[in-house]
Amino acid sequence: MRDFIKEVIGRKFIMDWGMKNRLSRIIKPKDGRTVMLAVDHGYFMGPTTGLEKFDEMVNPLLPYADALMLTRGALRNYISPDVDIPIILRVSGGTSIIGKELLHEGIIVSMEDAIRLNVSAVAFSILVGAEFERDTLLGLTQVVDEAERYGIPVLAVTAVGRDMAKDVKYLSLASRMAAELGAHMVKTYYCENFGKVVETCPVPVVIAGGKKQPEKDALKMAYNAIQDGASGVDMGRNIFQSECPVGMIKAVRAIIHENATPDEAYQIFEEEKNK
Ligand code: R5P
Repeated sequence: MRDFIKEVIGRKFIMDWGMKNRLSRIIKPKDGRTVMLAVDHGYFMGPTTGLEKFDEMVNPLLPYADALMLTRGALRNYISPDVDIPIILRVSGGTSIIGKELLHEGIIVSMEDAIRLNVSAVAFSILVGAEFERDTLLGLTQVVDEAERYGIPVLAVTAVGRDMAKDVKYLSLASRMAAELGAHMVKTYYCENFGKVVETCPVPVVIAGGKKQPEKDALKMAYNAIQDGASGVDMGRNIFQSECPVGMIKAVRAIIHENATPDEAYQIFEEEKNK
């Protein structure tokens, strides 16, 4: 009996190896933090400001990112296969910014294609509290089931509808639900009392940047999120719409991995901008 248990545990360990390895490529084991660069916006926004010439914008940022979050079309058309960066592939979508149900997303990529693309994780958006929440939650669980079969982690994105509040009550509800439904990482928004979102969510939480704001404010937000226990950022527009995207990602990186203060990070941004 004991040998049987040992064998089962041993087998489980081997099966978990790929999942753990992929996660540790994204969330760096030395400090448990990550700088994800989110450039998946085209899946519902088309040629988003800053990403019109995708490769020209994104390639110079890659040395400062721990992981790249994007769509399969962007990956195949703009990113060279010999690039050394973990890929987080968006696998939910199907609606657009001009459509009627912006966030009523379904599965848009098969797990087979995700594996073919050698991704380190897949990302799926849920919309808790909307009329169609059940569709997005069942989509998430289906993706978790399929991804776990191959040891691929799932990043759940807690989308927020236009008329919904991005407050601690809502974001902790959505983040905890995502984790309970099987997500291995959660991406949500920063809010007041953000510590509660992190404390009540059993998996690593990263924050989205949201709409472009002045660089100093975005850096303060990233800093506060880290102080409140976030594992990092999955930031897009506040980096690629900045007047100096390389300076901005370097500054964000200093906050995430070097415990820089917002002022120190802003100085890094300014120095790069004035080069
Ligand atoms: C959200 O559903 C998508 O993943 C966005 O592309 C991502 O949140 C964008 O990041 P940011 O808000 O920092 O531009």
